[in-house]
Amino acid sequence: MGFFIFINKNNMGIIKEEITDNKIKHYYSSTNLKSAEYNVIKKELIIDKGRIEFKNISFSYDDSLVLDNISFTIPNGEKTALVGLSGSGKSTILALLLHFFDNYSGEILIDNQNIKHHNLESIRENMSLVTQETILFNDTIINNIKYGNLNASASDIKNAIELAGVDEFSFNLPKKLETIVGESGVKLSGGQRQRIAIARAILKNSQILILDEATSSLDNLTENKIQESLKKLMKNKTSLVVAHRLSTIEDANLIYVLEKGKIIDSGSHLKLLQSCSLYKKLHLKEKLEDEN
Ligand SMILES: Nc1ncnc2c1ncn2[C@@H]1O[C@H](COP(=O)(O)OP(=O)(O)O)[C@@H](O)[C@H]1O
Ligand SMILES: [Mg+2]
Repeated sequence: MGFFIFINKNNMGIIKEEITDNKIKHYYSSTNLKSAEYNVIKKELIIDKGRIEFKNISFSYDDSLVLDNISFTIPNGEKTALVGLSGSGKSTILALLLHFFDNYSGEILIDNQNIKHHNLESIRENMSLVTQETILFNDTIINNIKYGNLNASASDIKNAIELAGVDEFSFNLPKKLETIVGESGVKLSGGQRQRIAIARAILKNSQILILDEATSSLDNLTENKIQESLKKLMKNKTSLVVAHRLSTIEDANLIYVLEKGKIIDSGSHLKLLQSCSLYKKLHLKEKLEDEN
């Protein structure tokens, strides 16, 4: 890359950008999101409504294309869902939106700003991610939740804990909310981690919410409760949901069906039951499983 700079002086600006973009992976892997060096060059992303657009996105991790020239819009203030078989590219779309990778072709726009030209911190500040692989710090449950908003009031924190159902499992732990989790503490289940992620997101209150297979491995009672709190959390926010269970996204305003890195159909649940054989198949499979 250094060599490139010397022989191609006219494009210095662009090359500088490339070098900086390459560093994203390094920052992500070291979870150092606050790199002065990176942020000096890039502008702040300003979120207004939170409308998201993927334009002609192609991406591969290695040789084979995982996303194949896809274009779609996630309208602001609504719940949009991604559906498809395992391996179809759903999580990859979320990873690109969170800017975990930058070596894709095409453009990802948030409120008409190309995220490639904006600093990582300002992109992630405006999004909350809820998954079962939530990164927990080697700290207490309460501190892991407060991380969503370090200025939150005590009553806001209490509210978030109750809404997300964290109190229900923390109550049984030796030190309750002061229990240390992570490597040197109590090991939590996926569902419990997810509830901490939800509490953190409630505190963070960002305009864009990203949920990946958020309610798998929860029992039905807990799942219903979590769905209720997620509904409150998602109200008037732009949310992109990858659901393990179709029943949790039937109410989405817009559902995109993915197959092998391409969007093969889109629309409401009822529309897709008519128009998309893959969607219909997934729906029937789930109905059968639920009956058994
Ligand atoms: N980190 C990775 N490195 C290499 N290949 C990956 C990586 N993550 C996912 N893949 C591959 O990309 C494809 C899409 O995966 P993914 O986006 O996780 O699908 P989904 O979430 O729909 O199950 C799959 O073929 C998967 O094996
Ligand atoms: Mg996935």
